[in-house]
Amino acid sequence: MAKSFLASLLLFFQIVWFISLPAEAAIKKYQFDIQVKNVSRLCHAKPIVTVNGMFPGPTVYIREGDRVLINVTNHAKYNMSIHWHGLKQFRNGWADGPAYITQCPIKTGHSYVYDFNVTGQRGTLWWHAHISWLRATVYGAIVIMPKQGTPFPFPQPHQETNIILGEWWNNDVEELVKQGNKLGLPPNASDAHTINGKPGPLFPCYEKHTYAMEVEQGKTYLLRIINAALNDELFFAIAGHNMMVVEVDAVYTKPFSTNAILIAPGQTTNVLVQATQAPGRYFMAARPFMDALLPIDNKTATAILQYKGVPTTVLPILPQLPVPDDTDFALSYNAKLRSLNSPQFPANVPLKVDRHLFYTIGLGINPCPTCINGTQLIASLNNISFEMPQIGLLQAHFFNIKGVFRTDFPDKPLTPFNYTGAPLTANLAANIGTRVSKITYNSTVELVLQDTNLLTVESHPFHLHGYNFFVVGTGIGNFDPKEDPAKFNLVDPPERNTVGVPTGGWTAIRFRANNPGVWFMHCHLELHTSWGLKTAFVVEDGKGADQTRNVKEHFPF
Ligand code: C2O
Repeated sequence: MAKSFLASLLLFFQIVWFISLPAEAAIKKYQFDIQVKNVSRLCHAKPIVTVNGMFPGPTVYIREGDRVLINVTNHAKYNMSIHWHGLKQFRNGWADGPAYITQCPIKTGHSYVYDFNVTGQRGTLWWHAHISWLRATVYGAIVIMPKQGTPFPFPQPHQETNIILGEWWNNDVEELVKQGNKLGLPPNASDAHTINGKPGPLFPCYEKHTYAMEVEQGKTYLLRIINAALNDELFFAIAGHNMMVVEVDAVYTKPFSTNAILIAPGQTTNVLVQATQAPGRYFMAARPFMDALLPIDNKTATAILQYKGVPTTVLPILPQLPVPDDTDFALSYNAKLRSLNSPQFPANVPLKVDRHLFYTIGLGINPCPTCINGTQLIASLNNISFEMPQIGLLQAHFFNIKGVFRTDFPDKPLTPFNYTGAPLTANLAANIGTRVSKITYNSTVELVLQDTNLLTVESHPFHLHGYNFFVVGTGIGNFDPKEDPAKFNLVDPPERNTVGVPTGGWTAIRFRANNPGVWFMHCHLELHTSWGLKTAFVVEDGKGADQTRNVKEHFPF
């Protein structure tokens, strides 16, 4: 009797649970007003471009399966476009956002609706301006919760917090970029790094500009860490607390514990932190990783992990960050990243490759008659420095407008050389062109990105729009097509949207080109992107009705 009562009670709850499931695919709407606001940091006030007057901008909360409509209205004097970094935008390039690649910029006084579905992804991503250097202040987090009833594949945290790392300049960034372009030289490095827009107590006028996160002893917290800095790969650590890495770029990883993480511009990292130390105040800190001989902003941003009840007069303890040129830490940290590759979240690594691509990354010097020195620093892939078109590449592709881009981007360098030998300081000019690669629908692509010693070696975080890829291999020196593929990880390589190519080394990625459209690929160091370290893939349509670039009811023209 009691047993059957229990059984029917259970059945009842099951039914209630099923019928109480919310309708799949809710519609989430956001209004983004691009407006200029006066903000002060480091005792310097200046007008900055913001979304809704917020710095960092608002967090976009989504549940996997939702449709999202974001109306961006531009009230600022700059042209604008917003990119939803890491969202796959399946058959939906119109909502991807990079200016002149998938859309013309939103002019002052105009609006544009970004309309996209979020499928097959959950975790932390972010959004940012994708025109000029405006992402210096126009950025925010995207949090994608798993489908209702689907737990995280790790212990449920008590609470979660976004930790967005950024850079601050005391001067107007767009002005600095203009001056840099006139000189053909890099603009000044930033004046501070920031955590959630705040530099912390190692900088002047920190009192109002220190981020603090309160924790309760014994509880576990999920930190959604985003590197929104323009030009710096960053180490991040919390004094006295290890971090358990559980996700990168909105893909679950095999959990591992570490005392510091390395995060490149564009990347996201979710970590669990247990507040198990003596109640106190502990600094979180972020500082650049740079293992080439190049000048950078090497200053440390700090925020505070504050145990509940501890007076704010207690001086926090600083964490030990890896030294700025700690190559070994960087390589061994990245080697620990593995896809979770569980039955529920498999790593579908392409095992057979249809198209092999090999792109060299180079810096260089081109003549520049309008520059003060007569020359300018540039950057190139396979010796081609990308020139921005006047209209969106996706429009040109869709409407068959000739003369906007060429599809003859070479699959490998035309003149091979010893890429990572002694520094090459002569013949540093590169070709200029809007040249892209055409990719057959659903083909599998392997791309090896090879750093070079043209001018100098340097680490480059590469980001591909429209896809995640698997990082199947990486190494120092020149890629060896005979020996290296045998060492690839084809079982549980990390799956991400942005990957660091190590200083003087190479990285191999694989993806299946099943998302038709025009997809930007570039170094996520803004300096290098603006110097031309970018190209795009034109992924052709398939034959099926659901294998084409989407025309969609919300076609924007
Ligand atoms: Cu996060 Cu094309 O950029």
